[in-house]
Amino acid sequence: MDTASQAIAVIDFGGQYAHLIANRIRRLGVYSDIIPSDAQTNALKAYKGFILSGGPSSVYDTNAPAFNKEILNLGKPLLGLCYGHQLIAATLGGTVVPGSTREYGKAQLRALGQSPVFKGLEPIQTVWMSHGDTVTTLPEGFVRIASTDHCDQAAVEHPGKRIFGFQFHPEVTHTTNGMAMLANFLDICGCGRLWNMKNYLRNAGERIKEKVGDRNVFLLVSGGVDSTVAFALLNRALGEKRVQGLHINNGLMRKDETRGVEEYLKKHNFNNLKIVDATHDFLDKLKDVYDPEKKRRIIGDTFIEVQRRELLNLDLDPEQWMLGQGTIYPDTIESGGTKNAALIKTHHNRVPIIEQMIREGKVIEPLADLYKDEVRELGEELGLAHALVWRHPFPGPGLGVRLLCSSETIPEISKHDRENLDRLASARGFTAETLPIKSVGVQGDFRTYALPVALKGSYDWDAIEAVSTDITNNVKSVNRVVLGLASKAGTIAHVAHAYTTPQRLSVLREADAVVTAFLQEKKLYDQIWQMPVVLIPVSSNTEEESIVLRPVSSSEAMTASFFRIPFDLLSELTSRIMAIPGVSAVYYDVTHKPPGTIEWE
Ligand code: XMP
Repeated sequence: MDTASQAIAVIDFGGQYAHLIANRIRRLGVYSDIIPSDAQTNALKAYKGFILSGGPSSVYDTNAPAFNKEILNLGKPLLGLCYGHQLIAATLGGTVVPGSTREYGKAQLRALGQSPVFKGLEPIQTVWMSHGDTVTTLPEGFVRIASTDHCDQAAVEHPGKRIFGFQFHPEVTHTTNGMAMLANFLDICGCGRLWNMKNYLRNAGERIKEKVGDRNVFLLVSGGVDSTVAFALLNRALGEKRVQGLHINNGLMRKDETRGVEEYLKKHNFNNLKIVDATHDFLDKLKDVYDPEKKRRIIGDTFIEVQRRELLNLDLDPEQWMLGQGTIYPDTIESGGTKNAALIKTHHNRVPIIEQMIREGKVIEPLADLYKDEVRELGEELGLAHALVWRHPFPGPGLGVRLLCSSETIPEISKHDRENLDRLASARGFTAETLPIKSVGVQGDFRTYALPVALKGSYDWDAIEAVSTDITNNVKSVNRVVLGLASKAGTIAHVAHAYTTPQRLSVLREADAVVTAFLQEKKLYDQIWQMPVVLIPVSSNTEEESIVLRPVSSSEAMTASFFRIPFDLLSELTSRIMAIPGVSAVYYDVTHKPPGTIEWE
C-alpha cells in the first residue's frame, strides 16, 4: 500500500485554513493534497475521501469559485467545513442565508445522538466559529448531529452517503478535539496511516534532482529555520558544488545576526555560503515609504536585484543557476497564491518578479508544500542542531515589517465605535484608548487594516483576554488590543513622518536584543512560538517612540494565541526596555490570530 493510494484531497475554496486542513491530515499520518475546486473528475477519483474547505465567498455570490459538482456523486466520504458545509447544503437542495451577525470565536457544541464523526468524544465540545452565512434548512436525507447557541445546523450528516458538514473549524487548535474529529473522518474513509517525514525525506532528493536537471541552485539563506533546512536538503541532494548559498544582510537583521549566521554555518560545515552587506541598497529604497505592502514589495525586489548582481560577481551563468528559496506553504497562501484566496500580505519571496521566474521554471522551493512544524521535523531528520531548528521564526523582510511607518494622516474612530468601545471596556473594569496608527490583521479570510486599542486596568489575564475578544468582535474599526505596561508622562500622540531609518532601526534592534536575552535567561524561549518586538510611531514626546511586545503560542502560524508571560517577569522586562534610549512606552499585544496577525507591519 503506498501513501498516495490512501490520500485525502482538500478541495480549496480559498479559505486561509485550507492548507491547515491538509497539514492536520498529514499530521494524522495520511497524505493529503490541496486541489482546486474545479478539478476534473478523473483527477478526483484517486482519493479515498474529500474535505471541502472554507472560503471568503458566499455560496450564492455570482463570483463564487467554480465547483465540480461530480464530487458529490463519487460515492466517497465527504466533509464540508464552513463554506464547504454551506456549499454541500445549498447544492443538494438546502438553504443558506446571511447570518444577522458574523460569529467569530469559541462556541460550545452539543452533539445530538451518535455520529461516527464524533466517536469517542464527550457530548459537549469547544469549537471555533468564523462565519457570516448559516445553513437554515437541510437537503433531503441529512440530519442535524450537533448545534450551538447561535447555530442550529453546526454539524450535519447524511448517514447513507457518508457526507458530513461542520459550520465550525476542526482544523484550528481552538477546537479542542478537532484532531479527534478529523481522525474519525479518516477512519470513515478507511485510510491507513502511512505518511511521515522519513518517507518525505526519502522522496525529496529525487524530486529536487528531477526539477533541477543539469542546472545548479543559487539559494538565498537568511539563516532562519526554513532557509537553513532548504540549504541542508539541497546540499544533500545535489552536493555542495552544485549549490551556492548567499546571505544578504539587508540592514533589517537583528543585532549581530549576520555574524551569528556565518559562524553557525561555518561551524556546521556549510562551506558554500557567501555573505554580502547590502544595507544601503535596501535602506536607500525604503526612504520615505510608509505603506506596509509597498515596503514588502521593495524589500522582495531588492533581494532579487542583489542576488542577480552577486550571481554576476561570482561569474555564474544565470541560465545555469536556478534561484532557490526556503518558501513554505503559508508564504504562498497568504500572498493570495492559490486560485481562490484573498491577498493577506505579499511575502518577500512572492513578489511579481519571482512569480514570473516561477512561471519560467527558474525557481526551486524544496519546502513549498510544508508547514513550519514539518520543516522543523525535516530539519531534525537532516541532523541540524536543536537550537537552529527551534529558533523563533523571523520574517524574510526582517525588522522592516516590525518598524511601523507613518505619514501625516491620523486615523480616527467613529462616534458609534467609540461609544461601543467605552461600554465594552468599562463593563470589565478597563479603560480603552485607540492608538493613532493602523496595523494589519486577518478576519474571516480577509485582510484588515484597522486601529489598535490600548487598555488600562487590572493585571488579570482572563479578564484581559475576555475584553480583548469583546472589543475585536464588536468594534468594527478595531483589529487589535494591547495592554499598556509602562509609559512616560504626557498625552499619547502620533509621531508624523516616521520611516525606515538607521536611528529607528537601532532602537528596535536594541529592544529586540533585550527581549531575546530575557527570554533565554528566564527559560521562556522554548515555550513561546515567536515574540515579535515592534516599534510604533506613537509617543508622549517628539524624541521617542513606543515598543509593542507580541509573544504568541502557535504550532504553524496560521492561527495563534497571545502568550501570557507572568506579570512579575513582565515588570522586570518592561523596566529593561524603558531604560533603552528612544523608548517612551511599552505595550503588550493581547490579540489572538485571527483577528490580529502575528506581525504588525
Ligand atoms: P502573520 O503576521 O501573517 O505571520 O501572522 C505568520 C508567520 O509568517 C511570518 N512572516 C513571514 N515570513 N516572509 C517570511 O519568511 C515574510 O514576508 C513574512 N511575513 C510574516 C511571521 O513572522 C509569522 O511567523
